[in-house]
Amino acid sequence: PLTSPKEMFDKAYQDGYAIGAFNVNNMEIIQGIMKAGEAEQSPLILQVSAGARKYAGQNYIMKLMEAALKESDLPVVLHLDHGQNFEICRDVISDGFTSVMIDGSHLPFEENIALTKQVVECAHGQGVWVEAELGRLAGVEDEVSSAENVFTDPDEAVEFVERTGCDSLAIAIGTSHGAYKFKGEPTLDFDRLEQISSRLPGYPLVLHGASSVLPEFIDMANRYGGQVSDAKGVPEDFLRRAAKSGVCKINIDTDIRLAMTAVIRKFFHEKPQEFDPRKYLGPAREAVQEMVQHKIKNVLGSSGKI
Ligand code: G3H
Ligand code: 13P
Ligand code: ZN
Ligand code: NA
Repeated sequence: PLTSPKEMFDKAYQDGYAIGAFNVNNMEIIQGIMKAGEAEQSPLILQVSAGARKYAGQNYIMKLMEAALKESDLPVVLHLDHGQNFEICRDVISDGFTSVMIDGSHLPFEENIALTKQVVECAHGQGVWVEAELGRLAGVEDEVSSAENVFTDPDEAVEFVERTGCDSLAIAIGTSHGAYKFKGEPTLDFDRLEQISSRLPGYPLVLHGASSVLPEFIDMANRYGGQVSDAKGVPEDFLRRAAKSGVCKINIDTDIRLAMTAVIRKFFHEKPQEFDPRKYLGPAREAVQEMVQHKIKNVLGSSGKI
């Protein structure tokens, strides 16, 4: 059933694991993730960006979710990823999303607080969860862009949560969106995570930009004509460590994109005579399932936690 993150995060916080929040854009992605969740009996967060809404269309997203939930008893959160303004949050709430992110991280502190507060007032009136963000992630996405990292200040994090009443907080500790997260050795500021977490006891934190950019898929993509060299993600050991901390939600999109693309590239190379989309979207869907199952089981620790 469609659920609130509340119970999921309470349990995750207590038992030291994290819930995977996977970005969805089409039917195959949703089906792959749902199958993985079923196989692992794991709670799931499916998240939709502004770009995903634009690509699939909000009506299609809602109907696909309806179909997914009809075939499953898993607890599933439907979450808006990187809501850019009040209006988009209000709109998806009226469509039935159980959680929204208002991303005011690009704004000055006081403006971020004001915007987040406005969304909290609207969302809480309808029992909807609000994730906010403080600090800035480096990296560029379609709808999300920022030039450089600004790590989250622990004192500001406490003040921000108190004054806005937001339910969870995305923090910047060195991750970034996309496939090129680190130039040299990957590092995350775990001291900072510890400081933020210890000043907000019991409070769920969120890690964006948490794809690992799995070498398996980079190699496969490049072997079959891709050009994604120098790609680097967050080592899975870092994510295991984060999952044991106050981090209750770990966002993964790039790893889904890479898994699908690698498998489809390989298919086109090996079977250039094929042109039935089901022949390559099927294996792409299976690759999503396998990858997500691996994350749930070996990295996030949410298997069997329904
Ligand atoms: O944080 C960004 C997510 O990866 C979504 O990306 O805006 O291209 O859908 P998108
Ligand atoms: P990745 O680009 O690391 O998958 O991050 C996704 C994300 O944070 C979505 O909000
Ligand atoms: Zn993000
Ligand atoms: Na955790």
